Amino acid sequence: MDIDTAIPSLIPEDTIFSDFLILDQSVKGRRLVYLDNAATTQKPLPVLLATRHYYEAINSNIHRGTHHLARTATEEHEKARIRVARHLNAATADEVIFTSGTTGGINLVADILALSGRIGPGDEILISTLEHHSNIVPWQMCCQKTGASLKVIPCHDDGTLDQDAFEKLLGPKTKVLALTWVSNAFGTVNPVAQMVHLAKEAGALVLIDAAQAAPHFPIDVQALGADFLAFSGHKLYAPTGIGVLWGRADLLGELPPWQGGGEMIKEVSFEKTTYNDLPFKYEAGTPHIEGAIGLAAALDYVDDIGMDAIHEHENVLIRTAADGLSRIPGMRFFGPDDRSGSLSFLIDGIHHYDLGTLLDQMGVAVRTGHHCCQPLMARFGITGTVRASFALYNTPADVEALVESTEKAVSMLR
Ligand code: ALA
Repeated sequence: MDIDTAIPSLIPEDTIFSDFLILDQSVKGRRLVYLDNAATTQKPLPVLLATRHYYEAINSNIHRGTHHLARTATEEHEKARIRVARHLNAATADEVIFTSGTTGGINLVADILALSGRIGPGDEILISTLEHHSNIVPWQMCCQKTGASLKVIPCHDDGTLDQDAFEKLLGPKTKVLALTWVSNAFGTVNPVAQMVHLAKEAGALVLIDAAQAAPHFPIDVQALGADFLAFSGHKLYAPTGIGVLWGRADLLGELPPWQGGGEMIKEVSFEKTTYNDLPFKYEAGTPHIEGAIGLAAALDYVDDIGMDAIHEHENVLIRTAADGLSRIPGMRFFGPDDRSGSLSFLIDGIHHYDLGTLLDQMGVAVRTGHHCCQPLMARFGITGTVRASFALYNTPADVEALVESTEKAVSMLR
């Protein structure tokens, strides 16, 4: 098939392997083509070096010691927080809470809202059909604790949300809208600006799951106008186990603490404990120090390239992949044409798992299955899809390998 190899790589081709060492390997005798970036991205050398430097030169617990290493590690950790705040255009770094990832951030918000007494019987929490399990289950648990009910915005057959239904579901009972910005399963980009605006007008709190948005385009939390936004470091070229919950300072200041332990307190006696100020109130225990430092290095890396450039590059690759794959008889894509990050598909008569296994034999790594979105799969009457997901280091040659390997696998399976 003809792939437009004139599409330039985003970073020079010789830099791809020197920045992303892991990509310079063969799988089953074929060049590794890594297209499972929505699950996790590979880490550039500056991120590896930043975390290595942390352990080689400054490893120490933070906010607790007065010695040189403790002060240096604390300084680097807090610089990372400021770096994240700058990336998100947060009003202050106090609004940046380090978490274990998007799941950790959403659970934190769902728990503190349940604890706060702001949600009660008769109230409603609104999510959408496109949500990942991590933006469904914490809210189901929140409903169990508070007596509220869960409402779900339906989606159209093209994988976009039904905006009329959304407006009808919004009302005085809606206490929370918890919405993904980009679907991890289908790549649908929700019109979050408009949806946040309507939800805020209805008096709801809004949480945006930005796990699949943060790797692909710039985020400005002040312009967005939501109350909370969560993302994971590991999908944004940073280490696993680090994530960010951004929340409005006035709101987080009022809401109750989450986990108890060291760092989140001002003073403890057996009779009474007073809690620390933001952001430490929500960071009990020793944090993922090198993860935060690695995240700052990852943000430097992507911001040097430019999030807009990354977005445009990935979009060209996705459109090219969709064009190439569309020539395979029986191809069915999920999600709208202007998808971001991920391209999800099925081919008539072929099980997604079989196709994924054969692609792996040809060195092409994709994800198959329900993508932690079982209700979405049920809505479409399927058990899963094949999902190719893209990152800044993918090239037209990767797209060519995906299309040619899929054609070959299909001819073997039919
Ligand atoms: N949420 C990640 C994915 O979509 C793991 O693959």
